Amino acid sequence: MRKRQIIIDCDPGLDDAVALLTAFAASDMMDVAGITTAAGNVRAELTLRNARIIRELAGRGREVPVCAGAPGPLLRDPVTAEDFHGTTGLGNVVFPKPRVRASRAHGVNYLVRTLRAARGQPMTLVVTGPMTNLALALAMAPDIVSGLDEIVVMGGADVEGGNITPYAEFNVFADPHAAAAVFRCGVPMRVLSLDVTHQLLTSDEQVGRIRALGSTQAVAAADLLAASNRLEENEKGRHAPLHDPSTIIALLRPDLFEGRKAEVKVITEEGEEFGRTIPDYREDGHVLWYTQADADGVFSEMLGQIARYGE
Ligand code: RIB
Ligand code: CA
Repeated sequence: MRKRQIIIDCDPGLDDAVALLTAFAASDMMDVAGITTAAGNVRAELTLRNARIIRELAGRGREVPVCAGAPGPLLRDPVTAEDFHGTTGLGNVVFPKPRVRASRAHGVNYLVRTLRAARGQPMTLVVTGPMTNLALALAMAPDIVSGLDEIVVMGGADVEGGNITPYAEFNVFADPHAAAAVFRCGVPMRVLSLDVTHQLLTSDEQVGRIRALGSTQAVAAADLLAASNRLEENEKGRHAPLHDPSTIIALLRPDLFEGRKAEVKVITEEGEEFGRTIPDYREDGHVLWYTQADADGVFSEMLGQIARYGE
């Protein structure tokens, strides 16, 4: 059976970094064909650098292109999330300087070129940051929808409320206009919103189990998760949710999640609800809005994938 071909569009970001490590580990189930980066948790130059760091940590520096995408949101003023990711975007975790350069291709051009070439064998796009790159690619080349079998997004919130404002989740808040364009594009979507990621809080004991795996990559994943827990505790007084890794686990183990079909509206008018997502739950919706997750199962799957480093 053909392995799922995925592109990860991200804003590393502590949890993006763990999602990338998990995806690279699951190489029997999915091929990471490429990475595109967006401004989000930290400035675009840093999300690009961080994606290069994790690519090399996973030993994939020579095979997987990393392409810098949009330097900022479509219309709104840029926002970042250093409080939750630190000034570098990878917390206080120190990594060797990345050696392999980023691709010269712009991330949006990479998406257009790659998805046009994927007609007939469509790819999966995982978006774990603001949706700016995909929105721009869709505007430039609406025909790329033929090269996508589905879009899996970490973003949005309904019953949980927001994490950056009372209504808005960060990825959508950072570029609501882009998110609105993506939710309208018609490609089947699965959404890991705060409604489900807030069920996936990582305990320090679980971080210890990842560290005990002992490989360089597992220890780094533990360091990233521990840094995330410390920053989240400072800001929210709780452990950090497995936001972005949940997208990869949903691809590997959809049986661990439950959801409802919906169409999703994004509030793009300035005001207190700017960036709010409003799912209209309906059987004929093209979006699967996840509402439940088996938290132990999600952690075990992530642990099992990360355990494959050093095998
Ligand atoms: O709201 C959580 C999301 O915002 C995650 O993707 C995190 O990395 C930040 O980008
Ligand atoms: Ca992210």
